[in-house]
Amino acid sequence: MGKRVHLGVTGSIAAYKALDLLRLLQEADCRVSATLTESCARFVAPLTFEALGAAPVYTSMFDEAPDADTAFGHLEPGQEADVMAIAPASANTLARLAYGLADDMLSCQALAFPGPKIVAPAMNPRMWEAPATRRNWDMLGELGYIRVLPGTGFVACGDTGTGRLAPMEEILTAVLKALSPQDLAGRKVLITLGPTRESWDAVRFWSNPSSGTMGACMAMAAHLRGAEVTVVAGPTNLTFPGDISVVSVTTARQMFEACADLWPGMDAACLTAAVADYRPVPFGDTKFKKTSSAGAGITVEFEPNPDILKSLGQAKKDGQKLIGFAAETDNVKEEAARKLAAKNLDLIAANDISRPGSGFGVPTNQMTVLDESGRMETWPQLPKTEVAWRLWDHLLLG
Ligand code: C5P
Repeated sequence: MGKRVHLGVTGSIAAYKALDLLRLLQEADCRVSATLTESCARFVAPLTFEALGAAPVYTSMFDEAPDADTAFGHLEPGQEADVMAIAPASANTLARLAYGLADDMLSCQALAFPGPKIVAPAMNPRMWEAPATRRNWDMLGELGYIRVLPGTGFVACGDTGTGRLAPMEEILTAVLKALSPQDLAGRKVLITLGPTRESWDAVRFWSNPSSGTMGACMAMAAHLRGAEVTVVAGPTNLTFPGDISVVSVTTARQMFEACADLWPGMDAACLTAAVADYRPVPFGDTKFKKTSSAGAGITVEFEPNPDILKSLGQAKKDGQKLIGFAAETDNVKEEAARKLAAKNLDLIAANDISRPGSGFGVPTNQMTVLDESGRMETWPQLPKTEVAWRLWDHLLLG
C-alpha cells in the first residue's frame, strides 16, 4: 500500500491493456506513473493515462521532471518509484533493454532504474520466435529482469501462436510480488480452502457455502512474500497463479489424504477449509426417488469425517507451524483457546460468523487471534487480504 509503480508502455496493439493494469494497481493502493514510447502514443493517447490518474506521464526525452530542482525526467522514476513494469513490451523495446540503449525516455529510465524491473512482451509470434528476440529475452533474464511470458492464441494480425500479452492478473501478481517483502522465501506452505462435498446419492450432496476467499488470501499473501505454496482446494470457482500448485479435491477424506501426504514436507500449514465434520451414509449410487410415503419424510444417517487439522497437529514436528481457523457463533475466545490446545496449533484465528462483515461469502473478517504463547489480539473488521497479511506477520514475528 502506498508504493509507486512506474509503467512503461510501448507501441503494441495491446497498449490499451496497460490502462487495465493502471486501474488494477490503483485498486491495490499503488500510485502509478507512466512513460509512453513514441509509438505507444500513436495507439493510446498520453491524456488517457493522465485522465485515469497516472502522474507523471512521460512521452519524450525532454519532458520536465515533476520537480525540476531535484530530479531529471530520465532519472526520476529510478529515484521515486519502487518497481518498474514494462507492459506491453515490444520486440524493439526488449532489444533496447537487453543492450542497455538509452535513446528514448523509456530506455533511459529503465537503464537508470535500480529497483525490480518487470517485462511483459506482446508481439507477432514470428517476431517472438525470431532468434534475435530469443537471445534478447535470455539476456534480460541474465540482467535480472522479472519476465512474464506472453500467452498463446490468436494475435491481432490474425496469426496464431505465442506473443499475446500475458493475462493482466499474471502481470499484476508479478508487480505485487516485486513490491512485497520476501520474508517467506524458501518456506513451503500448505493451505486448505473451500468447502467439502459429501455425496448422499447419485445427484445430492452435503456441503456449505464456503467460497474459499480467506484461504485464497492466505495463499496469495504467502506467494507474494516468496513462499512455495500448495493449495488443497475443495470445489470453488477460484483460480491461482501458475506457480501456486493446486490439488483439487471433493470430499473431506480426499482432503485428508492430500494433506497427510503433503504435511511432512511443509514448513507451515494454514487450514481454512470448511470441512464437513460428518458425511451422510450414502443412499447408494443411484438417485433417491420420492415415493408415495415420502410425505412422512426420510431419515439420513451421518458418520464422522477425519479432523484434518487435529491429525496434522498430532503429526507436527519441531519447526513446523500450524494455523487453524475457527468459525464460531458464540464463546469465540473460549472456543479458540480450547481448539488451540486440543489440536496442538501455533496460532488460531477465530471469527464470530453471526456478525455482519465476518465469515462466509463476505470480503471482510473480524478476527480474534490467539497463539500458543498465550498472546491474544482482537482485530477490527478488515479486508480478508489484510487479515491474511497480518496472520503471516503474526506467525513470523511470534
Ligand atoms: O473444530 P472446528 O471444525 O471448528 O475447527 C476448525 C478448523 O479445523 C479449521 O481450521 C478447519 O479448516 C479445520 N478442520 C479440519 N478438518 C475437519 C474439520 C475442521 O481440518 N474435519
